[in-house]
Amino acid sequence: MAEIIDGKQIASEIRQEIAIEVQKLREKNYYPHLTVILVGENPASQVYVRMKKKACDEVGISTETLTFPDSVEEKELMNTIDSLNKNSTVHGILVQLPLPSHIDENRIIEKISPDKDVDGFHPINMGKLTLGLEGGFVPCTPAGILELLLRTNHSPEGKHVVIVGRSNIVGKPLGFLLLRKQKGGNATVTFCHSKTPDLKSITLKADILVAAVGRAEMIKKDMVKPGCVVIDVGTNRVKDPTKTKGYRLVGDVDFSEVSKIAQAITPVPGGVGPMTIAFLLKNTLEASKKLKEKEVNIK
Ligand SMILES: NC(=O)c1ccc[n+]([C@@H]2O[C@H](COP(=O)([O-])OP(=O)(O)OC[C@H]3O[C@@H](n4cnc5c(N)ncnc54)[C@H](OP(=O)(O)O)[C@@H]3O)[C@@H](O)[C@H]2O)c1
Repeated sequence: MAEIIDGKQIASEIRQEIAIEVQKLREKNYYPHLTVILVGENPASQVYVRMKKKACDEVGISTETLTFPDSVEEKELMNTIDSLNKNSTVHGILVQLPLPSHIDENRIIEKISPDKDVDGFHPINMGKLTLGLEGGFVPCTPAGILELLLRTNHSPEGKHVVIVGRSNIVGKPLGFLLLRKQKGGNATVTFCHSKTPDLKSITLKADILVAAVGRAEMIKKDMVKPGCVVIDVGTNRVKDPTKTKGYRLVGDVDFSEVSKIAQAITPVPGGVGPMTIAFLLKNTLEASKKLKEKEVNIK
């Protein structure tokens, strides 16, 4: 049976570390603050925003959620972001995605100051990651996955990491993070996606296999090399009348079968998800510290 990588526990340790640092800033009358922009009534987005707010409250980061109707015009969001960029008491800005189809997500993300882009999706932050430059924000889910691997002694250095999924928020940034020429990097990375022929022949070569697809339990036991470390990013709702909510969450990996041959595996829920939130807090703390330093230098 595989080692179960306990993301919940590791995330809780990270949150405690963050709380201590936040407290130090608060004692100097500096208050880390995250503003969240939520558009429309998407129930999943509302849940995510509530979870993020609760996590911020727990570590002492103040938050404010600005809500807009589905019908909001792009210009109004742009103006709001502009004023948040200029507001020195706001250190992190997060636009909860997805946005309604009449709004250009890329334009909105580009409007956020890269210094306050705690999701790490701004092209400047993505560019820094891709070029292997220091000082940018790394998207929360990839950063959380790397930390999970490092804190459980499964360093990706020198390993063949196969990532199934090439999204801009998980697959791609994770690959670039693991390619960096520094601690936690130096992996050999293969990206797979929906147009990859014979996926199984590639996943079978992975020392570390990351599934970020969004298809319930698509990674089966016969697609995984025995002894592989398996990171399951997927969060899929599967109908289950025995549950009070009428569904249960499952990953992209067939956990019950794959855990019989893997060396280590993340569960869903309780694996990658809590780490994503922990890294949102960490990025907000970093943004606060950097902006504080800038203020001091200007004075
Ligand atoms: N736990 C967390 O904190 C967290 C954070 C983010 C996302 N997630 C979850 O992770 C999953 C992926 O999220 P995402 O935003 O990266 O999704 P996404 O943008 O929909 O990307 C999915 C990727 O999977 C690929 N794909 C789809 N079907 C495939 C198949 N049959 N074989 C191989 N590749 C296939 C797609 O290929 P193409 O590019 O060719 O379309 C795409 O690259 C979702 O379940 C999401 O809810 C969890």
